[in-house]
Amino acid sequence: MKKKLFITRKFPTHIVEPLQEYYEISQWEEEEIVIPRDKLLAAVTDCEVLWVTIADQVDEELLSYAPNLKLVTNLAVGYNNIDVKALRKKGIMATNTPGVLTNTTADLVFGLLLATARRIPESERYLREGKWKSWYPMQLVGKDVSGATIGIIGMGRIGQAVARRAKGFEMKVLYNNRRRRHEAEEMYGFQYVSLEDLLKQSDFVVIMTPYNSDTEGLIGAQELALMKDDAVLINASRGGIIDEAALYDVLKNGNLWAAGLDVFEQEPIAMDHPLLTLPNVVALPHIGSASLETRTAMLMLNVKALMAYGQGKAISNRID
Ligand code: DGY
Repeated sequence: MKKKLFITRKFPTHIVEPLQEYYEISQWEEEEIVIPRDKLLAAVTDCEVLWVTIADQVDEELLSYAPNLKLVTNLAVGYNNIDVKALRKKGIMATNTPGVLTNTTADLVFGLLLATARRIPESERYLREGKWKSWYPMQLVGKDVSGATIGIIGMGRIGQAVARRAKGFEMKVLYNNRRRRHEAEEMYGFQYVSLEDLLKQSDFVVIMTPYNSDTEGLIGAQELALMKDDAVLINASRGGIIDEAALYDVLKNGNLWAAGLDVFEQEPIAMDHPLLTLPNVVALPHIGSASLETRTAMLMLNVKALMAYGQGKAISNRID
């Protein structure tokens, strides 16, 4: 008998189709709109397998509606939308998409860093708004990236890929991580420092650490106060790692030079959010892994796990 699979978003038909051999599939038929919570809770009542995106919260409440649930597949490497402990208690497995988005996300981080440092979006707006009347020496001047010090918080796969890119820009690379990365230190000269020293010494602070109870609010008013007044903060991990109200204050008061943000506490960010009123904020709609190749690879990694489960085989990329 086929297993019941519910998909919380409309994914490309050619990606989903092969799963029909093992699954009776139902899905939310919208590509851009998140399934409303009540509809999701109703949909999971008889499903054995659930395929979700980061916009869907898989928590105790959802599990209480899903007595047959055995597997949750997450279209992301980050899985803060899933209460892994609650799943474990019920013996439900979960999978994610590690590895395939490392370079694409690191590329975006570097793009965001350059865009913020060199005020690229602001300069484009300036041109399109007809403000470009002449060339003058201090027009839209930014900060040099080459030769500057970058401090990376979270030296996992993506953090290391960002650090390697930084080497190409002849940057000094500092990092802080739960574990030392001795091999990367020896191979590339990255320097391990305390969080405090990283914040004090870096011209660019890049947050790449996973979001969990240890990192929630990791960068608050105290930490921001340690940073140089002309430093730049980049976040492409999860919004909740930064206290956004405190970030607004330092940016507004000139105690931080700029911020480049691909992620926010609340996504999508409200259009009247104070951070969006600041010219020294570059804000993107969580596009870290958004290349056609990478999004396809992420979907295919989920499909691989679903196929394995359908065939009764061992599942790769399990979240343990
Ligand atoms: C992830 O994979 O965790 C990203 O944030 C979404 O692509």
